Amino acid sequence: MIIRPYTEKDKEDVRFICLNSEGPCDLSESSQHFILTTYCDYYLEQEPENCFVAADGDDRAVGYVICAEDFDQFRACFNRAYLSRFPKYDFKHRLDARASVILHEKYKQTYPAHLHIDVLPEYQRKGLGHLLVQTLASHLSFKGVPGVMLTVWTKNTVGRSFYEKYGFTFLEDAYGSAAYGLPLHAEELADAARPQCVRNETSPLEI
Ligand SMILES: CC(C)(COP(=O)(O)OP(=O)(O)OC[C@H]1O[C@@H](n2cnc3c(N)ncnc32)[C@H](O)[C@@H]1OP(=O)(O)O)[C@@H](O)C(=O)NCCC(=O)NCCS
Repeated sequence: MIIRPYTEKDKEDVRFICLNSEGPCDLSESSQHFILTTYCDYYLEQEPENCFVAADGDDRAVGYVICAEDFDQFRACFNRAYLSRFPKYDFKHRLDARASVILHEKYKQTYPAHLHIDVLPEYQRKGLGHLLVQTLASHLSFKGVPGVMLTVWTKNTVGRSFYEKYGFTFLEDAYGSAAYGLPLHAEELADAARPQCVRNETSPLEI
């Protein structure tokens, strides 16, 4: 297994993981379209340099962390180019997509970056999620980004346990989501989340 930067050839594998990280996806086509548009495609298409994958021995992505570095830049581009990917009559998914970042707006001064992370079920609980977070934290810290946040469904006990274990600060529960943040100034990084090696920007991290 290696953790390495995302490349264009990973796109369909990452989209597959996005839909199947909690087991085989049985959602309708429009729900799949909503999830991929809201939680995946912007990051791969607009900020591939802020995305990393965990790849198996065949170099196939089995997990990923994807990130928008600056919330205001994300929101402007997302509203312009991604909300329009929903059919005009699909008001529900447009509203849900906008609502999904309400807490990001609130905390953007301290945590301008936000992330999404997923690992295929058969590769979970092997430390890949932690390595992906460490790699992204190191990358953003190197770029001078002060903090990264995320939201997770309030009822997602697996996700919440993961963020709490690895030193994310709980911010608040609201609108059915829990928000967590990770400060990225080196001296403020929680011990558990502190990158354990200085990562060469072009080299994969071998596990
Ligand atoms: C959350 C997720 C990315 C973590 O990745 P991972 O590679 O499994 O994480 P790690 O192995 O580095 O860390 C393991 C920790 O994550 C949490 N965790 C992972 N899988 C878990 C499970 N099935 N049940 C309970 N806790 C779990 C626990 O805190 C665990 O620590 P523990 O083993 O000491 O209890 C992964 O489980 C996943 O993709 N889950 C489904 C989708 C999801 O919830 N994504 C996050 C949404 S915001």
